[in-house]
Amino acid sequence: MSAVLMDGKALARDIRAAVKEKCLTMKTPPTLAVVLVGDDPASAIYVRHKAADCAECGIRCLDYTLGGDTTEQRLLSLVDELNERADVDAILVQLPLPPQIRENVVLERIDPRKDADGFHPDNVGRMLQFAPRFLPCTSAGILALLRRYEIDPDGKHCVVIGRSNIVGKPTAVLMLQAHATVTICHTHTADLAAQCRQADILISAAGRAGLVRADMVKEGAVVIDVAMNRGEDGRLCGDAEPAVAEKASFLTPVPGGVGPMTRAMLMENTLRGALLRRGAAE
Ligand code: GUN
Repeated sequence: MSAVLMDGKALARDIRAAVKEKCLTMKTPPTLAVVLVGDDPASAIYVRHKAADCAECGIRCLDYTLGGDTTEQRLLSLVDELNERADVDAILVQLPLPPQIRENVVLERIDPRKDADGFHPDNVGRMLQFAPRFLPCTSAGILALLRRYEIDPDGKHCVVIGRSNIVGKPTAVLMLQAHATVTICHTHTADLAAQCRQADILISAAGRAGLVRADMVKEGAVVIDVAMNRGEDGRLCGDAEPAVAEKASFLTPVPGGVGPMTRAMLMENTLRGALLRRGAAE
């Protein structure tokens, strides 16, 4: 058996088209402020992609690039300014931040009603109570992809590899909300392979090429590969080795699976921020 490759690129395109249609009905375009601190090359690429997505959707994108030696105070002042501005609907501070800046302090400073990433503790708490305001983009993208392929997590055993605040934890919570039985694995998990073999839906966000081997995948399982690794040959690859495609029923390719969905959900969150701020009138 060879897995159906889940086309995140195509679904992301549909989502952007729907966002664009809604944006066209609004008096002023939704506005997303993207803040990049330092010159991490991967972050610079993400930010460039985000600007292109915004242009396609009719979202105004304000880019702020600050030097790698920026102080926490300076970044907090910028966040305060963006929080205050009536023409800014959504704010994203690109992670990781340089070591002199405390990530949690910055994320808490963002107005939770403009929190495009859904990383503010207020929004994390709401998500945990299954009453979300903004959902973290990657996790929301995974759920949207499962819906598109009519894969219902209800009653399934879902194993998530990774416990980051950005992907692992929120994805586990959303799968729980979707009525899956959830196991979270991480670097201290005793027997990762044995845990993975239990999975009807295996979601890997470890960031280690080859971590998920075919012998760790149950025949017919759905495998969602969230990672973006550079292989030894310099090409992009996920956590799953290629042979996983012969065991899984569905598999997200890397690139072209979860990555485009993360960016599409950011567009949705920006639109949501604009609608929240303007009331249901528009
Ligand atoms: N860095 C890697 N992924 C993300 C993300 O989803 N949001 C932000 N702000 N930074 C990231």
